[in-house]
Amino acid sequence: MAFTHVSVLVREVIELLRPQPGKRYLDGTLGGGGHTERILTESSPGGCVLGLDLDEDALAAARDRLSHFSPRLITRQASFTAAGEILGELNWPSIDGAILDLGVSSHDLETPERGFSFRLPGRLDMRMDRRQSLDAFEIVNRYSAAELERILKAYGEEPRARRIAAAIVAARRQRPIERTDELAALIARAKGGRAGERHPATQSFQALRIAVNRELAELERFLENGYELLAPEARLVVISFHSLEDRIVKSAFRRWNRSCLCPPRAPVCTCGWSRKAKLLTTKPVTPSAAETRSNPRARSAKLRAVEKI
Ligand SMILES: C[S@@+](CC[C@H](N)C(=O)[O-])C[C@H]1O[C@@H](n2cnc3c(N)ncnc32)[C@H](O)[C@@H]1O
Repeated sequence: MAFTHVSVLVREVIELLRPQPGKRYLDGTLGGGGHTERILTESSPGGCVLGLDLDEDALAAARDRLSHFSPRLITRQASFTAAGEILGELNWPSIDGAILDLGVSSHDLETPERGFSFRLPGRLDMRMDRRQSLDAFEIVNRYSAAELERILKAYGEEPRARRIAAAIVAARRQRPIERTDELAALIARAKGGRAGERHPATQSFQALRIAVNRELAELERFLENGYELLAPEARLVVISFHSLEDRIVKSAFRRWNRSCLCPPRAPVCTCGWSRKAKLLTTKPVTPSAAETRSNPRARSAKLRAVEKI
């Protein structure tokens, strides 16, 4: 199946990143390469992109799509949390701009055997990186009811988490829950009630996907000290797709923008912190009505950006 993913907020990303000829950029979530294609075009001649992705299908598709830019595109199958290490291997002391466009590509969501979608029957997988052993099958069939409830609540904000966790544990006593459609039907039965606009399994599937790929922990880890990768005046743009991610980005960027992290009433500053970056977006940038109409996946996108000091 051809790799299809429509990039979101491309114009806004380019306006904020302002790619320049000869400069170096990081695309921490290369996906189908849509944002990187524009960065490479705008940074011609000589601009380079290090493109990282956990998903080998995405990397293969991006390499193929962008082969005419070779050797200005360097790719690795790795998490964006490994960016510092990889920049070291490449002898790139810093980068002149970076983008994270979080989540799963439409291609993965729409490929039944990747197991991300409650609408498409497939094995419960949900791994972005298929080299990792933890998958959704393991979580659904081996985690305790308490742990399942915690995941559904924390990562899906699912109000019926306890009831769904109990239903999963009861069902798997009969036989393992192998498939996305089985799990989706089980969740719908456990939740009961009238069918709404959203499928009843939407939040639970989001929660499982976040748990399988440790998505929030990876994002927090990158934002802990990601400013260290950036050259002065380099910009970082992050696009998130749900409130849990956006909250993490917003609070990290606010921290980077502060000149002191001491408690407000501390008599003298002892934190040793200095301001790392300035906010370029006080409110998140969201897609235009026209973009949302032509690409419904863009609906929930929120973009935040900072500039390294
Ligand atoms: C929304 S897509 C990116 C699309 C891309 N910007 C484009 O324009 O085609 C997100 C991609 O990030 C990858 N991804 C998610 N978490 C990651 C992580 N921690 N490290 C590297 N890649 C990650 C996913 O595998 C997916 O391919």
